[in-house]
Amino acid sequence: MDIKSTVTTMSETIYLNGKFITKNEAVISPEDRGFNFADGIYEVIKYYGGKPFRYADHLDRLQRSLKEIQISFDQFDQFEPVFQELLEKNGLAGQEAGIYLQISRGSHTRIHRFPENSKPTVYATVFPFASKPDQLENGVKVITTEDIRWLRCDIKSVSLLPNVLAAQNAHEQNAAEAIFIRNGVVTEGSHSSFMAVKGGTVYTHPDSNLILPGITKKVLFEICRANHIKITEEGIPASELAYMDEMMIVGTGSEVMPVVQFDETLVGNGRPGPVTRFIQGKFFDETRRL
Ligand SMILES: Cc1ncc(COP(=O)(O)O)c(C=O)c1O
Repeated sequence: MDIKSTVTTMSETIYLNGKFITKNEAVISPEDRGFNFADGIYEVIKYYGGKPFRYADHLDRLQRSLKEIQISFDQFDQFEPVFQELLEKNGLAGQEAGIYLQISRGSHTRIHRFPENSKPTVYATVFPFASKPDQLENGVKVITTEDIRWLRCDIKSVSLLPNVLAAQNAHEQNAAEAIFIRNGVVTEGSHSSFMAVKGGTVYTHPDSNLILPGITKKVLFEICRANHIKITEEGIPASELAYMDEMMIVGTGSEVMPVVQFDETLVGNGRPGPVTRFIQGKFFDETRRL
């Protein structure tokens, strides 16, 4: 990173524990449990034309994540105006922008069990979050990799090291995403949900402790149901990937991204397929309708 972009970044306004400050001014204890234990959760929300997409779903998932790791926190009403102010202060109001919100258990002398009196650390930041038109049009390559994550992937935890390693592995192989395989079955991507199409039916892993309940996936289910596209919530055996007609990775950042190659194998004819294209079109109709 050059010095200029570092300076620009550090002058961005963030939200930390009730205050709007610059990144330069932000102070988080080295004993914050988010830092020491990855003891925290997060959400990423995309704003289209100044409006958050599926805000209520993101808030529900945030509350569920907090409950699952037993962080007591109930100040949810503050967030929408805070995000709006962050967008304005950073010149991103009305643009395609992302919100990152993280809540950790707070700071305490290092002990593994929950401290009795730690106060959650609440951090939010905004960033430009433009779609990737080339990739959305032409599709991307993914790699497959063993799912070495824990057994609570349904919690949107900041403990993301296996996801980080998988994403780096994909990057080194010029791929956009790594798709996890657990016990011979496809679960999801390192930062996206995974769907495949065979004979006009959409296949995807059922919600369980093995995957994050994706909000984009939920939107796509609604689109499929409204348009009589059959969905089968069944883990796809890795050995059957080569027989799929179409694949896509879907998520807040990936949106509805066609996959045209996995590892060294082309998906279908190596071009985004018709079902993916149809669903993608309907998805962007929704984001435009906001
Ligand atoms: C592991 C994982 N699965 C799935 C998703 C997709 O979730 P969402 O559609 O809510 O962004 C994400 C986040 O983008 C993720 O990190």
